[in-house]
Amino acid sequence: MRYISPSLLSADFGHLSDEIQMINRSAAEWLHIDVMDGVFVPNISFGFPIMEVLKKECTKPLDVHLMITHPEKYVERFVDAGAWSVGFHLEAVDDPRPILKLIRDKGCRTCLTINPDIDVERLLPYVENVDMVLLMSVFAGYGGQRFIEDTYSRLRRVRQYIDSNRLNTLIEIDGGVNTGNAGQLFEAGADVLVAGSAVFCAKDPETQILKLKGDAE
Ligand code: DX5
Ligand code: ZN
Repeated sequence: MRYISPSLLSADFGHLSDEIQMINRSAAEWLHIDVMDGVFVPNISFGFPIMEVLKKECTKPLDVHLMITHPEKYVERFVDAGAWSVGFHLEAVDDPRPILKLIRDKGCRTCLTINPDIDVERLLPYVENVDMVLLMSVFAGYGGQRFIEDTYSRLRRVRQYIDSNRLNTLIEIDGGVNTGNAGQLFEAGADVLVAGSAVFCAKDPETQILKLKGDAE
C-alpha cells in the first residue's frame, strides 16, 4: 500500500476550511492529526475543538497521533471526536495493552508509535495486536525537522518481522518525509507516509501529494 497522510500541524490555521477542502480534493488517503500536550513533548498543538471542525468538514479518515502522557484518559474521547485511527507512544505508558483495548472496544483502529531513540525490538511484541505501527523519523514535537537516516534500517527490521510472521499490520513513517525520500521509504516497506511541511508549504500541495505517492510525472 502507498498511502499519504498529510499532517495538519503544518497547515495554515487562519484558513483551516480551505486547507481541509484541499485535502478533500487531493489524492491523500488520510489526514494526520498531531496532538501534543507540552509534557510528553515540549510543544503544544491542538485538541478537541479542531477535531470537531475536522469531523464535520474532512471527508478523509482522521489518523490521530497522540504525543501525550496518560493517553488512557483521552483515547475514547478522540474516537468520539471523529478519529478513524488512534495512536499513542509506547514509551509514554507502562503497558500499552489495556489502552489498545479501550481504542479497539470503541470500534477504532489502533496504532503504536515509537520515537527514534526507542529500540524497535521493544515494539515487535505488540505488532500483531495493532492495526498499525508508527516509526518516528524525527523526534516527536515539531514539524519541519530533518529526516533521520537510521529510520531505513528500523523500517526494514519491522517490515521483515511483519512479513515473516505473515501479519498485515501497516507501517507508517512520520517526520521529514519529502519528495526526495518518499519513493525509497515505500520501497523499504512503508505503507503510509506522513508529510507535513512537504505538503502544506508546497506551492501546489495537491500535485505535491501526487509526487509523494510517485504518481506525478
Ligand atoms: C512531529 C509530528 C509530525 C510532523 C511531521 O512531532 O508527529 O507528524 O507534523 O512534519 P514534517 O513532515 O514537516 O516533518
Ligand atoms: Zn505525527
